[in-house]
Amino acid sequence: MKETSPTEPEAPAATATGLHPTATGVHAEATGLHADRVSRRADGRLILDGVTFAPEPGSTVGLLGPNGSGKSTLLRLLAGLLAPSTGVVTLDGTALPALPRREVARRLAVVEQQADTQTELTVLDVLRLGRVPHRRAWTPASAHDERAVRAALERAGLTDRADQPWHTLSGGERQRVQIARALAQEPRELLLDEPTNHLDIHHQLDLLALVTALPVTTVVALHDLNLAAMYCDQVLVLHAGRVVAAGAPGDVLTERLIAEVYGVRAAVTREGPEERPHVRFLGTLA
Ligand SMILES: Nc1ncnc2c1ncn2[C@@H]1O[C@H](COP(=O)(O)OP(=O)(O)O)[C@@H](O)[C@H]1O
Ligand SMILES: [Mg+2]
Repeated sequence: MKETSPTEPEAPAATATGLHPTATGVHAEATGLHADRVSRRADGRLILDGVTFAPEPGSTVGLLGPNGSGKSTLLRLLAGLLAPSTGVVTLDGTALPALPRREVARRLAVVEQQADTQTELTVLDVLRLGRVPHRRAWTPASAHDERAVRAALERAGLTDRADQPWHTLSGGERQRVQIARALAQEPRELLLDEPTNHLDIHHQLDLLALVTALPVTTVVALHDLNLAAMYCDQVLVLHAGRVVAAGAPGDVLTERLIAEVYGVRAAVTREGPEERPHVRFLGTLA
């Protein structure tokens, strides 16, 4: 059982994460993404404070925490869209700034919270954008590019929307198109910021079942603790920019943690053969 108290600021971030047995240093042989003691300062305030995090390759990690706890900032640092103020993010042992942007884009797909695109594009056009990092300049799409696009379209349940203009889609459909664009990219690392936000429950479950079944490392910011408990191999809980707990959902999602991090009284029971935690909310704490 992990210590889940956010009231112990002395705990070094490296031991608080525990997501990867080698998460405390940068290794030449390291595979995948690795954030090593990253901090980010904005407006003189630390919005991310010494986070060490290395998702197990191929696993699905849920990024949890209240509004403003630093989830989006961490995802943007992992994607190389933001630079850490201190610390480093590496991909297979190489610091992100040392890698050509195009190479990063071939490996790593990111869907941000307010993902938008040019309005005149169709669904198919948006998915084809996902293939750009894989193509040499001025070369037409290959048969493989088209196969990847069609497969992503089908996986996201958008085949019958292929020619629909982006601006005519509903919020949930747009979200699915952005996710399909990320899948068309055929990444090894997939970073999703609250991807279930505008989706109905069927599409929420569909999406998480899909990403957990892919042989891809997925880091997904989620608000719904029960979805995280059902689908994530590991969860990382942020609170005021710090990692306060990390590990299997069953170890992390305790009544005590939920009270301390979210200020909410909850009852946690165990469900199903895997005894995944199920959270029932009882009210806010004063
Ligand atoms: N560019 C910025 N300038 C100032 N503050 C920022 C900036 N970006 C984010 N923040 C602040 O950092 C904190 C963490 O933000 P964010 O990573 O978006 O949290 P989350 O995704 O968990 O809701 C918030 O308090 C937010 O207001
Ligand atoms: Mg956010």
